[in-house]
Amino acid sequence: MKILVTGGAGYIGSHVAKQLLETTTYQITILDNLSTGNIETIDILQKIREFHFVKLDLKEFEKVKELLEDKKFDVIIHFAAYSVVFESMQNPMKYYLNNTVNTTNLIECATKSRVKKFIFSSTAAVYGDVKQNINISENTPTNPINPYGMSKLMSEKIVQDASKVSNNFKYVIFRYFNVAGADMYFSENELSPRVGERHEPETHLIPLVVKTALGKRDILNIYGEDFDTPDGTCIRDYIHVEDLASAHIEAIDYLDENSSDIFNLGYSRGFSVKEIVNNVKEITSINFKVEVVERREGDPAFLVADNSKVLEKMKWRPKFDSLEAICKSAYEWEKSL
Ligand SMILES: NC(=O)c1ccc[n+]([C@@H]2O[C@H](COP(=O)([O-])OP(=O)(O)OC[C@H]3O[C@@H](n4cnc5c(N)ncnc54)[C@H](O)[C@@H]3O)[C@@H](O)[C@H]2O)c1
Repeated sequence: MKILVTGGAGYIGSHVAKQLLETTTYQITILDNLSTGNIETIDILQKIREFHFVKLDLKEFEKVKELLEDKKFDVIIHFAAYSVVFESMQNPMKYYLNNTVNTTNLIECATKSRVKKFIFSSTAAVYGDVKQNINISENTPTNPINPYGMSKLMSEKIVQDASKVSNNFKYVIFRYFNVAGADMYFSENELSPRVGERHEPETHLIPLVVKTALGKRDILNIYGEDFDTPDGTCIRDYIHVEDLASAHIEAIDYLDENSSDIFNLGYSRGFSVKEIVNNVKEITSINFKVEVVERREGDPAFLVADNSKVLEKMKWRPKFDSLEAICKSAYEWEKSL
């Protein structure tokens, strides 16, 4: 089987590529323009098992078409996108062009070159600000409140429409909640992640907390402590990147026997900002400076998945549903940089 991973030099794509290289014999090609991904990540993955790396921007439509016609991939796992919410509000066109227009072209080339399975990275941002503090199921109405979420929702619709007119083009759309943690690789009994999260600028909470613990940042800002939650800080559903990655591998087989579908990926439980901070302080025994500042616009109090659909329909089972595993692996990864 031939698999194309777009965005495989990035955070999530590299974990999926790593699992594909380690646990399958599929022929892997990674396409990435290295805009937010790293060539070091590609070098590390090459040591696990050799694969074909194509440095290419998805906006180069003709080259994407040639690659797909030439390689005749069976499966595409599509991660390549921009994903900084704040930036999408300042520069919406950057997001619509890369996330929606380039995805549209990729899907067009995929259906023409007879790709059979398309696995797409979507996001809980498609749900927008769900006011009640209840777990979000796939039936919750979508209502993105920023161009990032809208660019992904539009791509979801395009994948679905393409599949409607092509019986041989099936999809799984995954809506990720908060992805965190790093490679659970052990060397001489020590957790030693080979790949992990490396965003610039970093906007995700857990890497920011571990950077502060390591002295790479002076202070950790908590944006508001007057939310309608037990300790007043926002609650999110943090899913270990290794579990998130294994769902993609499972989705490949799932589509052999099942029809296309949309699934949330989270653990159906949340942790508050203060719980994350305390956990990192505890596991590292480092006390660092924390300051509560004003709320940010558009931050919902509570964003937690209802993951019953994926557990019911897929064989996928999480293995790292532990805040310690998430924070410890993120910490060890950050320490190694
Ligand atoms: N990280 C999260 O918590 C999270 C949550 C929800 C959804 N997602 C989605 O998951 C996917 C991966 O996210 P990530 O955190 O790994 O991001 P990332 O920025 O680390 O990885 C994205 C990769 O895509 C590449 N890329 C971007 N545009 C490209 C283009 N035009 N052509 C070729 N390559 C391109 C980048 O160089 C990078 O390697 C994205 O689609 C994102 O929207 C992420």
